[in-house]
Order: sequence, then C-alpha cells, then structure tokens
Amino acid sequence: MRHVIDPMDLSVAEVDELLALADDIIKDKSRYAEVCHGKKLATLFFEPSTRTRLSFEAAMMELGGNVLGFSEAASSSAAKGESVGDTVRVVSCYADIIAMRHPKEGAPMMASMKSLVPIINAGDGGHNHPTQTLTDILTIHREKGRLDNLTIGCCGDLMFGRTVHSLIKAMSRYENVKFILISPEELKIPSYIKTEVLKKQNIEYEEVTSLEEAIPKLDILYMTRVQRERFFNEADYVRLKDSYILDKAKLKGASKDLAILHPLPRVNEISTEVDNDPRAKYFDQALNGKYIRMALIMKLLGLSI
Ligand code: NCD
Repeated sequence: MRHVIDPMDLSVAEVDELLALADDIIKDKSRYAEVCHGKKLATLFFEPSTRTRLSFEAAMMELGGNVLGFSEAASSSAAKGESVGDTVRVVSCYADIIAMRHPKEGAPMMASMKSLVPIINAGDGGHNHPTQTLTDILTIHREKGRLDNLTIGCCGDLMFGRTVHSLIKAMSRYENVKFILISPEELKIPSYIKTEVLKKQNIEYEEVTSLEEAIPKLDILYMTRVQRERFFNEADYVRLKDSYILDKAKLKGASKDLAILHPLPRVNEISTEVDNDPRAKYFDQALNGKYIRMALIMKLLGLSI
C-alpha cells in the first residue's frame, strides 16, 4: 500500500508516469469514466479548502467513483475530541482511499500509520502539499514542454507557503533548474529548505526582495498569497499582506513566454487585469489539478484502463 505524504514520496519516473496518464485523460476523458466504478474516496478536511477538496471529489466522480467526507473539523468527531489516528482508522473501513488536509504539520503522516487504505496529504500546515505540486508540474510541463532548464521565481509568503516548499523539493530533481526566491525579509524561505534541499543538491538560487528586478529573468513566476491563518499576530499580516501585487505594469519587462502560476486562492497579489494576459495560467492550473488527481487516484488504487 502506498501513501503520498511528501512530494518526494514519488520518484521522478513515477511523476513522469502520472504526467503521461493525466495528458491521456485530458485527451480522451470518456475512456476513464468507469475506471473507479464501485470505489470510494473520503475527503477529510480539518482545514478549509475549495480547489483541493472539490478537485479531488470531481476527480473521483469523473472516474466513476463515489465520494464521502467532511469539509471542516467542526463537523467531524474531532469536535468531540477524537484523535486523528482514530478518525482515520475508522474512515479507512468505509473508503478505498483518503485525501486529508490538516492544520498540523505531520498529521497526514501520522494518519498513514493507522490507515488501512492509501492516504494522500492534501496539505499539512506550513509543511507540504504534494498534489498541488503535481498540479504545478503538470502545468509547467504542458506550458513549457519540459521540466529542466528553467528559472522559477517564487514570490510572496515563502515562509508559511507549503506549496512553495513542496514545489522546490520536487523541481530540484530536474537538470539546471534555478530559483529566484522573492519575499519580504520576514517571510523568507525556511532555512531547512535551503540547507536540506537547495544547498545539499547544489541548486542555484537567490533570495531577493524586488519582484520587478526578478521578472525579466523568469520562465515561471509562481505567485502566492500571504498565509493569514499561520500568523501569530494580525498586525504583522496586515503590514505584509500587500507586499507584492502583480499588475500589467510589472509585467512590462517579462518574457513573452513567461508562465504565471498561482495555487489559488488569490487575495490581492495578482491584479485581475492580469487575468486576460495570455501568460496567466493559474486558472488552467486549477483545471489541471483535477486531471492529475485522477491520475494519482488511479495509481494508488492500482487501476488502469
Ligand atoms: C494552497 C494551500 O492550501 O496551501 N491552496 C490550494 O491548495 N490550492 C495555497 C493557499 O492556500 O494559499
């Protein structure tokens, strides 16, 4: 039985396999319409979500399976004091696969030790978000036709943004990928990502504060929201929340082949005037999230057509 808790739980070869499967699903969806017939996905969301939960549920439905679950801790027995381990042990008697989001780092890993079925981490605190990373990688691959030789700018809340942590881990496995890490001083990338991922693998990176200066060098611009729910102090959030706002003027110096990504939800960090720019790929990215989750569910359930 396989779980996906960390983006590195999948090898590069397995990621390639998932990308190929997702591309095939996109090409001919109807062939996959019954592949999960009789199977159930449980979505256990102890923290709010729109895209991740609904894209998991839509993915299972498009594969012909069924879904059950809860979308907030308050509507589960967690509100009565049940442990995550017990909740998961029980739900794994009712479902064939579980996608789980939790505000505590490590909760999905703990759940995987109790579960009778595969667990997919759908985001744990400020830690990891492997299926968002698969979504990002599918989008980069479909837009650029490659995963190597890329300069990727990650901009915004690099300290608390789990999507950035997972993306850096996963992308650092490809040849000649460079990172420009754009953030306010207070929201710089955690040092473990620098020491255990970037430095350890000799990945070229710079930490900067100016988005305008970085933009012309980028193949991919990955914007992120300031993660309000992870701040201890509302005043710090308010001071930092609008540190970066991407608008048409800031895109002046950008390459015409730039791809602008954002895991969403967006707050203010991308002006809506950018949405019609052909380089804005964040809504395509959200759609890709459903297809890559279809591929992942099939893989973890050992199903093919
Ligand atoms: C992200 C998350 O939950 O980490 N959202 C998502 O899954 N698409 C990003 C965010 O909340 O800022």
